[in-house]
This record gives sequence, C-alpha cells and structure tokens, in this order.
Amino acid sequence: MKICVAGVCTAGKTTLVNTLRKLGYQAYHVAQEHSYVARMWALRRPDFLVVLDCSYETSLKRRAVPWGVAYMEEQRRRLEDARVHCDLYLNTDDMGPGEVVDAVVAAVHKAQIGGSMMPIVNLDVVKKVPEIEIYINKGNDHLGAIGYTEHGPRHANLVANIAHNVLARLGFPQREAELAAIAGYLHDIGNIISRVGHGQAGATMAFTVLRELGMPHDEIAVVMGAIGSHDPEESGHPVNNVSAALILGDKSDVHRTRVRNPDQAAFDIHDRVNYAVEHSFLRVDDRGKTITLELKIDTKISPVMDYFEIFLTRMVMCRRAASFLGCDFGLAINDVRLL
Ligand SMILES: [Fe+2]
Ligand SMILES: [Fe+2]
Repeated sequence: MKICVAGVCTAGKTTLVNTLRKLGYQAYHVAQEHSYVARMWALRRPDFLVVLDCSYETSLKRRAVPWGVAYMEEQRRRLEDARVHCDLYLNTDDMGPGEVVDAVVAAVHKAQIGGSMMPIVNLDVVKKVPEIEIYINKGNDHLGAIGYTEHGPRHANLVANIAHNVLARLGFPQREAELAAIAGYLHDIGNIISRVGHGQAGATMAFTVLRELGMPHDEIAVVMGAIGSHDPEESGHPVNNVSAALILGDKSDVHRTRVRNPDQAAFDIHDRVNYAVEHSFLRVDDRGKTITLELKIDTKISPVMDYFEIFLTRMVMCRRAASFLGCDFGLAINDVRLL
C-alpha cells in the first residue's frame, strides 16, 4: 500500500514518513504545499492520502520559519485538492509524533479491511488463536526433551511484555510497540520443528497465522524479520526496531524458574547460571538513553564468571540491539555495574 503524506510545512510530514518506513510501510512525502499543480499529490497514484495541518503559532514553536501567516494560508490553498480527496486529515497542533503515527496506522488498517468491524491485530487477538498456544507448549516440550530450559508460555509472555515496554518507554509509536509484543509472543514457536533454525521456521509459521488474521503485509514483514533474526545462529543482528526490542526481551530472560532439571546435583552450567539468578530486570532509561540488565545472582550457586562464559554472546547481541535503538547497554550484577 502506497501512503502519500502531504501538508503544510512543519506539520510533521518528514517525521511521519520516516517512522512509517521504519515500520515497513511504503510511505512518501509530496511537496504539494509548494506546487501550483493542484493534483500533484495524485501523480504516483497513492492508495492512501494523508494531509497534515498545523496552525501558524505551532509552526513558529516548531521551527524558526522565515515566512508569515499569509504564506501559510497560500500553502493551505495549494493543498486544497489534496485535503478534499484525502483519506485522513490531521491537525497536529496538539499531537506528538507518536500520536500522529498511531492515528495514521489505525486509519490505514481500517481502510485495508474495508472499514469492517474486524479488529486490528494486536497481542490479545493473537493470543486467542488456539493453535498458537499449542505451538508454544509443544515447542517447549520438544526443547525439554533435549535438555533445554523453559521456553513455554511464561517465556513467551515475558518476552512480549519486555519487548513492548522497551519501545514504549523509548517513545516509539504504540503500534510499533504492539508489533514487538506480537513478535515477542510468537518468537519461539519454530521450536516445534527444530531448535536449529527455529527463528526462520517460526517466522514462516507466524506469516501464516498473521495473514489469516488480516494483518497488513507491511507489518507481517516487520514481525517476520524480527522473529527470523532473534537468535545468534540466525544472524542475531537486529533488522528493525521490533527486532531490537525482541532481542533485548529474549536475551534478558534469565531466571531460576526456567530450570526444569529437579536434580541440582545434575545441573549443567546453563541450569546452574539460570538457577542462581534470583531476580532479573531490564531497566530502560529513556532520558539517559541506556538499557541496563540488572541481575541478582546467588554466587554460592554460580560464580559471576559462569554467567559470562555462557551469556557473552547474548550480551553482545543486547549491546547491538540497544545501539540500534540509540541506547547504550549496561549490565549490573548484584548492584555492581560490569558493563
Ligand atoms: Fe529463540
Ligand atoms: Fe526465546
């Protein structure tokens, strides 16, 4: 779907287009406000036309504009045809950039589903798909059979929450945070096929489910990329914001409740490290632009060095993911900052 964004200067066109593109939408901006050709906006035949507006007073607050109110009115006159034919008109005077994106995404969704009452695909909708619960539980059983820690509903829900919160706290659009929650919930369903390549398998499975739910392909692409890249063996490099949030959520889930082996004497190093972690928390500081994994480890069960031995790759992935979101990554164990 081609989304064309027109509007007066300083209304927020560039920010909106850049964010929509990051979300996977085919969005572009047209300088209709500077053109005498009334239907310039229509040349590329957009599927969805957005017109942004704002008052002259808002313009002055946002940027030192060199023109007066008369030129603003002239821009509006040049935008008249676009305004009459647009699918969504927004006055952004009292809206933040995230609110503008969310309003556009909601309107695009509504248009894509023909204005029917079909809900936007959010985490609650995905959770109601019966087969998803089966895939998560069966994948968890399969990993249990080969000695892995817990990867079941607890892990899926926790990763969904953390991935959502990372983007929400950093001020990304609500819709992008929702996609992170969906990717987080679904990211390990590929384990029903095989642990090796479970990210790619899971991405393919997610495609079928999300398509049947009516999610737009632009968004499915973002979720698939995130699921397919969440594990080191499948690149482990973030490919979009949702992917970065998923990596942070997934790799920060280390806790004693994940250990399934009831026999402490038979613990391997993974069991020992996970069991030693009594508390874990991913702290997101949007002002300081830092994301810190805070752990409380019982060093009688596992020395801190054990943690580094098996989780070094994860920490490298977390650092990359944080950096992708414009943040530094930190690690604090037992109140001592180590990274
Ligand atoms: Fe995984
Ligand atoms: Fe996982």
